[in-house]
Amino acid sequence: MASLTIRQLDDRLKKLLRLRAARSGRSVEDEVRTILRAAADESGTDVPGPFEPPAPKSAGRAAAAPDTKRVLLIIGGGIAAYKSLDLIRRLKERGIAVRCVLTKAAEHFVTPLAAGALAGEKVFTDLFDPAGEFDVGHIRLARETDLVVVAPATADLMAKMANGHANDLATAALLATHAKILLAPAMNPLMWFNKATQRNLAQLAADGVLTIGPNEGEKAESGERGTGRMAEPLEIAAAAEKLLAASADKPLAGKRMLITSGPTHEPIDPVRYIANRSSGKQGNAIAMAAAAAGADVTLISGPVNLPDPTGIKLIKVETAREMLEAVERTLPVDIAIFAAAVADWRVANAGEQKIKKKAGQATPDLLLTENPDILSTISHRKSKRPKLVIGFAAETENVAANAKDKLARKGCDWILANDVSPQTGIMGGDSNTIQLVTAEGIEPWPPQSKQDVAAMLVARIAAEIADK
Ligand code: CTP
Repeated sequence: MASLTIRQLDDRLKKLLRLRAARSGRSVEDEVRTILRAAADESGTDVPGPFEPPAPKSAGRAAAAPDTKRVLLIIGGGIAAYKSLDLIRRLKERGIAVRCVLTKAAEHFVTPLAAGALAGEKVFTDLFDPAGEFDVGHIRLARETDLVVVAPATADLMAKMANGHANDLATAALLATHAKILLAPAMNPLMWFNKATQRNLAQLAADGVLTIGPNEGEKAESGERGTGRMAEPLEIAAAAEKLLAASADKPLAGKRMLITSGPTHEPIDPVRYIANRSSGKQGNAIAMAAAAAGADVTLISGPVNLPDPTGIKLIKVETAREMLEAVERTLPVDIAIFAAAVADWRVANAGEQKIKKKAGQATPDLLLTENPDILSTISHRKSKRPKLVIGFAAETENVAANAKDKLARKGCDWILANDVSPQTGIMGGDSNTIQLVTAEGIEPWPPQSKQDVAAMLVARIAAEIADK
C-alpha cells in the first residue's frame, strides 16, 4: 500500500477534506475511504488487486520505441531505496525506459505503486507470481534489457550475487541476464568494510559487475558518517547513460561466442606429432574483432605462435579430442565459429614412450583413426546448439561446390570457404579470400587482410542478430 498520509496533502486539499468530513459527520480518514470507494464505483472497477500502472498493454520491450534503451532497475531493501524512486525519474528524463523489480525487503521502504507510477510500467516483485511469469517471466525480464542497475545494492544482495543465488526474482534475473550490471551499493560503513562484503565485491568485480559508489557522507543512522551512502540518483543515471551509449557501439554486447582456432597436434609418441600449416591468425583476428564488438569471447586454440589476445578467455588445447571437450564445456553460447584446422585423423597406436629407430628393423606403421568432427557434433546437438553455427571450408579445388556440400553435411548455418592451395598463401599468410556460403546462396568477398575478414564477419553476424 502507498504510505501517503493526510499530513502529506497540500493545505488546500486538507481544508477541503476537513470541510467535506465535517458536513457529512465523518472523520477525515472515513471521508477519504468514502471518496475512494465512490471513485472505484464510478470507474466500474472493483478495488484493484496488485497495482497495474497505466502502462502500455504489453509489459514487454514493445512498450518502448525500438531504439529506446531499457534499464532493469532492481531495488534492494535499504533506506536508500527512497532515492531509487528519484533514480527512475532521472533515467526517464534521459529517454531511458525503466522496468523495476523490488525485493521483498525493498517493499518495506518503497511500494510497487510508487515505483510503477514513476516508471509507467508494471513492477515485478515475485519469482512465483503466475501472472508475472505469464506476462513476462523472469528470463525475459533479464534478457529484455540493455543494462541492469541494482540500487540500492545491499550487503545481502551482493553476497547472494557473488555466490550465484537465485531464490527470488531479483537474484534469478541477475543470474539470467546477459546485460551489464551496475551496482550502487548502500549500507552502513561497518558492513561495507567488512571482509565478507569486500570479498564479495572483489568476486563481483572479477565477474565483470560494475559499481558506482558508495559515497562518503552522513548515514541514515543519526550521527553516523562514513563510506556507505548510495551514489546520488543523478550520478547513477549519468553512469547508466554512459554504459548504454558504450553498448550502442558494441553490436555483440551481451552475446557469448566461442571460436576454435589454429591446428591440432595429434601425438605419434610423447615427442612427435601430426600437425598442419594453420597459423591461427584468422581465428585470433575473429576473436579480437568479436571482443571489440562487445561479445563475451572464449577462444579455444590449438598450438600457435601468436601472442595471447587480451580481453578474451583463452583455452589452449593440443588435440582434436581436447578441443571438442573444451567446446562442450564452453556451451551454451549464442554464436560458435569453427576456424580451427582440426586434424581429421589421430594415431590409434601412439607410443607411450618415444618410438626408437632400430637398425635393420622396418619403419613403424602408424595406424590412423578418425577424430571427432567438432563442427558437425555441435551443429547436430539437440540441446545447447548455438543459434548461429559457422564453419570454415579449407579447400584446394571446387571451392564453392565442396563448401556447399560441407554446409549440408555438417549441419551448420554458414560456411566461410577459402582456397588453401599453397599458391594462394592463405594457410599461414596474412590475407584471405572468402566465399560466404549460406542457405541463401554464395557471397564472394574481396581479397583482404585476415583482420578485415574478421571485421566483415562480425558485421555480418551483428546484422543477422539484429534481423532476428
Ligand atoms: N572441423 C571440425 N572438426 C574436425 C574437422 C573439421 O570442427 N574434425 C571443422 C573445421 O573447423 C571447419 C570445418 O569443420 O570449420 C571444415 O573443415 P575442413 O578441414 O575444411 O573439412 P573437413 O571436415 O576436414 O573435410 P575434408 O577433409 O573432406 O575437406
